[in-house]
Formats: sequence, structure tokens, C-alpha cells
Amino acid sequence: MTAASEQRLPPRPLKWVVIFVSMAGNTLGKHLRLTTFGESHGNSIGGIIDGLPAGVEIDTEAVAFELSRRKPGQSKLTTARRESDEVEWLSGLWEGKTTGSPLAFRIANKDARPKDYGNMQDVYRPGHADRTYQEKYGIRDPRGGGRSSARETANWVVAGAIAGHLLPSELKCIAYVDQVGTIYAPALSTPDTTEIEAHPVRCPHAETAQEMEALIKATMEKGDSVGGAIRCVVTAAPAGLGEPVFGKLPARLGAAMFSLNAVKGVEFGSGFQAGSMFGSAHNDTYDAGGLPVSNHAGGSLGGLSTGAPIEFRVAFKPTSTIGQKQQTIDRSGQVVQLEAKGRHDPCVVPRAVPIVEALTLFTLADLYLISKTDRL
Ligand SMILES: Cc1cc2nc3c(=O)[nH]c(=O)nc-3n(C[C@H](O)[C@H](O)[C@H](O)COP(=O)(O)O)c2cc1C
Repeated sequence: MTAASEQRLPPRPLKWVVIFVSMAGNTLGKHLRLTTFGESHGNSIGGIIDGLPAGVEIDTEAVAFELSRRKPGQSKLTTARRESDEVEWLSGLWEGKTTGSPLAFRIANKDARPKDYGNMQDVYRPGHADRTYQEKYGIRDPRGGGRSSARETANWVVAGAIAGHLLPSELKCIAYVDQVGTIYAPALSTPDTTEIEAHPVRCPHAETAQEMEALIKATMEKGDSVGGAIRCVVTAAPAGLGEPVFGKLPARLGAAMFSLNAVKGVEFGSGFQAGSMFGSAHNDTYDAGGLPVSNHAGGSLGGLSTGAPIEFRVAFKPTSTIGQKQQTIDRSGQVVQLEAKGRHDPCVVPRAVPIVEALTLFTLADLYLISKTDRL
């Protein structure tokens, strides 16, 4: 018999060693999984949703409606890019129902204008992902930010709308803009979707919406951009969603929100304010009927949903590509002045509302499917 050491292959010469730097991290979810592809100004974007149970009737009109809420060019407050965002269903549906096989879809990029980005090919936009992508991969698609563009989020809206079909029909997930710059909307525990959609800025409080819109327009005229925040409220979510240690409900939702472009903060319930409170005020005490009288917890305790509304806020930075001249560097490290071209959102929050909802629905549907195996 040959000794184990003699069976080993001789060490490979160093020239055989290849280091791969591939773009992983394109999948969201654990049981229900979305894997996406595409760049802002390439041929198309799309995705594969795996883990869907068979026999779910899919309302493709509802998916199209959600996409129309996200699409560019919908008002004077957003980028002027125009995309019809029609979904081409490639597999996984038969006679309007899921078959249990991967649901694949594609959305064509019809209004791509890669030439707009000619002057940014070798220049890094301050605040954008150009430099980090270039340095990590040594190559990047510079057209409109390529893979780092929020064009990708159209895929997420499709997946969120599909995931919504798996959740109990009484569950409602509603997001709205509650901050633009230093203008804040009053906190609403039951925001009204008609009121939200009645204003291009997607703030349901009419007076505040007008102030926000005026600020965005004035900012745009100066060639600048402004940040903001979105509040999301989920009602009638079943208790027990989330996993106790590493898959806590806020962690899963937070990870989904931090996948969203330009997000700089997520807070649940009382959030950062909790750090300045006393326990006697922060505890959500129970009434005689067993219901919590307040919701500082934001709908989760111990990482599991309590059955109270799941409430969180998401803060977005001001759009990085602005019309004003700013100092930056090019690929060779030379200092240059950049006056960015292309079509850009002066404030991303109005368009991000349906994306926050989609990520929330997808994450909750994933946790809902997982919860089905928690107890026999
Ligand atoms: C709905 C939405 C639209 C966006 N539109 C633009 C845009 O027009 N121009 C831009 O520079 N950034 C835009 N962004 C933000 C960038 O995609 C993002 O800032 C960039 O990829 C860098 O990533 P980071 O800010 O997450 O670090 C948008 C973000 C969202 C959510």
C-alpha cells in the first residue's frame, strides 16, 4: 500500500495560481432568494426568484403597477430618463400560476444614453461608487454607474411585488417620505396610500409635501441635491417572524435596507432616541387585553415580530452626481474638476418609497416561509 503522503499531488508551480475577483453578493434572501443581473445602460436588467411555492396565482398587473411607481421620469422631481419598464417573464409561470421552478424575468433598458457618461469614464464622481468598483475589480462599466446604479432596484420591485403574494392578505406595508432636508412630516401610524400618491414627493401630509417639493425644485435649480428619509409601517404582520440570534427581524430588514443605494441609516421604533430615554418611559407596557400601549420596540422583541406594527425609518444621503463643479481625481490620480453630466434624481426619496416597500415585503415573505417550519 502507498503511504498517504506519497499519494498527494506534487505542489503546483506558482504560475498556476490564479486569483479570481468575481462580483458575488448578487443574491438576497435565505429560503426565498432573488439573484439579479444588469447594468444601468446595458442591454437589460433582470433576475431569478427561487424558493417560490408552486400554485401561487400571480397578478402581473399588480407587479407592473408597482414598477410604474418606481420608474424614472414620473414627475419633475425625478431624473428625466424615461423607461417603460415592461417585464418579460421568462420561466416559472404557467397559466398565471407559479410552477415551483425558478421565476425568471427581464426588463429591457430602452432609454439608455451611454454617451452622456463619456466625460466620466476616467474620472471618479465624489460620493459615488466609481472609484471603489474600479479599485476592487480593475475594470468597470462606467455608463450611468453600471451595476452600482439604482436601475438595479427595478428588479427588487418586481421581486417584492411577487413576494407580496405569499403573505397574509391582511398584512399591509406602507412607506412614505417623512423628511427632505430639514423638513419633517408628522409621524403617522396609519398612513394613507391615496394621500401618499397624491403628491409627487410621496409625503401624505399635504402642507409638508408642498414645502418638500419646493425645496427639491430650488435645490435642482442650483445644480445641487438633497437628502431625506422614509418611514415604513407594516400592519397585521404575524407574530414570530425573524430568527432569534443571527437572523433577527431588524437585522434582516436592516441588511435589506442597507443594500439600497444611498442609504446611510436605519432605525427601528424609538431608534437612536432610545439612548436618551429611561426604561420606565421606553417599555411598551401591556393593557388588560394583552396589547402593548406604545410601540417603542418598533414591532420586534428578541428579534421576533410581536404582532404590533413593524415601524422603521431609512435615511438617504443627497444624490452624489450633481451639476456643480467639484474637485476630484481621475484614474491616474490627477486632480481634476468635474461638472457631472447625465440625468439624475435631485433627491432619491420619492422614488425610493416603492423600493423600501418591496425590500420589506421580500424579507418578510422569506421569514414567513421560514417560520412555517419553526413548529410542528
Ligand atoms: C431611487 C434612487 C435613485 C438614485 N438616483 C441616482 C442618480 O440619479 N444619480 C446618482 O448619482 N445617484 C443616484 N442614486 C444613488 C446612487 O446609486 C448611490 O449613491 C451610489 O451607487 C453609491 O452608493 P452608496 O451611496 O450606497 O455608497 C439613487 C439612489 C436611489 C435609491
